[in-house]
Amino acid sequence: MYKLKNVTKQYPGKGRKVVALNDVTVDIPDGQMVAIQGPTGGGKSTLLQMLGALDRPSSGTIELEDSSLGQLGDTKLGAIRGKEIGFVFQNFNLIPTLTAQENVETALVPLGVSAAERKERAEKALASVGLAERGDHRPSELSGGQQQRVAIARAIVKEPAVLLADEPTGNLDEETRDEIMEVLEGLWRDRGLTLVIVTHDSAVARRAQRRLHIKQGKVKDLG
Ligand SMILES: Nc1ncnc2c1ncn2[C@@H]1O[C@H](COP(=O)(O)OP(=O)(O)OP(=O)(O)O)[C@@H](O)[C@H]1O
Ligand SMILES: [Mg+2]
Repeated sequence: MYKLKNVTKQYPGKGRKVVALNDVTVDIPDGQMVAIQGPTGGGKSTLLQMLGALDRPSSGTIELEDSSLGQLGDTKLGAIRGKEIGFVFQNFNLIPTLTAQENVETALVPLGVSAAERKERAEKALASVGLAERGDHRPSELSGGQQQRVAIARAIVKEPAVLLADEPTGNLDEETRDEIMEVLEGLWRDRGLTLVIVTHDSAVARRAQRRLHIKQGKVKDLG
């Protein structure tokens, strides 16, 4: 699915540059579930942004299937992001004024999906995360775990090949964390997703097929 070769990412800093990723070479096979761990500031979110085509490396190459992400212009990069990659974040990032159903539908708007089809697909996506009955609720009327389920439904409604999650259980208690992990694993298994989860939580990381550790921009494959 992904082939990263000698990927370095630097950010301009005061006086000297910040090296967020330092010569990272790693492959992620199609359909693998990978956990990324490591200390704060180590480069986890930066790596996820690279995988998510949200940013380009300073040097090195990132291939997603047949596309070399660093070479693409903004329009093509945006198109790959919109179609192939779903994102889930620690803070859910739902739009507070929209219902759960409407939040999920937003992911299909840029893809030019008709209103009728958006409705149907969003309902199915909400059902697949166990929230069929909650489509007309706003985020403030849902628990944290339920909000994260809505965010997961929004991420998968476009049927992406890849799901990237940055601390998806970071704001949840242990029981809800385990529920969300079961939802993610179920989707991963049923849909053959490539699933990459950044986490500080070893209980989450242990559930993955493979663990990567990032410290000071260097990746170690823990197998
Ligand atoms: N947009 C940016 N501009 C400048 N520096 C940045 C930017 N984004 C990240 N960095 C720096 O790059 C390094 C890696 O940051 P990153 O966010 O990838 O770490 P992280 O492993 O996700 O940390 P955390 O566990 O706290 O989320 C840090 O030193 C950070 O300050
Ligand atoms: Mg981070």
